[in-house]
Amino acid sequence: MKRWVMISSTVVAIAVAVALVLRPSRTLDPELPPPAHIPAEVRAALRGKMQRHGADMRELIMHLVVLDNDGAARIAGRVYDESTLVRSPDTERLEKFLPRRFFALEEQLKVAARRIVEAAARGDSAGQAEHFGTLTKTCVLCHESYLFDRPTTTDLGPDAAVGR
Ligand code: HEC
Repeated sequence: MKRWVMISSTVVAIAVAVALVLRPSRTLDPELPPPAHIPAEVRAALRGKMQRHGADMRELIMHLVVLDNDGAARIAGRVYDESTLVRSPDTERLEKFLPRRFFALEEQLKVAARRIVEAAARGDSAGQAEHFGTLTKTCVLCHESYLFDRPTTTDLGPDAAVGR
């Protein structure tokens, strides 16, 4: 009886080991759900511009937690450079689909990224961590705004220009 227990638990252990070896080495990255009110081509254009953010944030936090100021400054600088919607020729076209808060949050992302670079230049690790928190908040709030806020200009009704 005891022998059977040992044999079957060995079989289970081997099965688990085999499953671990065979499991896909790359799991798919999580994605935002598609917003219903944004046309596919606009989504695709935005996605192309935004795609590096996830990888950048993972890299940034690793440099930040091991107090690698140069590495953190380099990646935060990249996040700053990559966010270019606000002052791009696309802005006007995108305003039809995106809420104003979206553009404001991109500005805030740039400010937080710049503050990380500045804190890194001072060797201020706590400051970098704090601004990393602020930066993360801009990611979450912008995704929320993207999915749920109304566009800046509505369907060009009489009130379309109000508050612009
Ligand atoms: C200005 C608004 C805005 C900000 C700020 C923002 N994002 Fe995004 N993000 C988007 C949009 C728009 C998409 C594209 C969603 C889609 O595919 O419809 C996106 C997509 C993504 C995706 C999914 C990419 C994919 O391939 O589907 C990830 C991951 C992501 N963002 C991470 C981040 C991180 C991390 C930050 C903060 C550093 C951030 N984002 C900040 C607007 C933003």
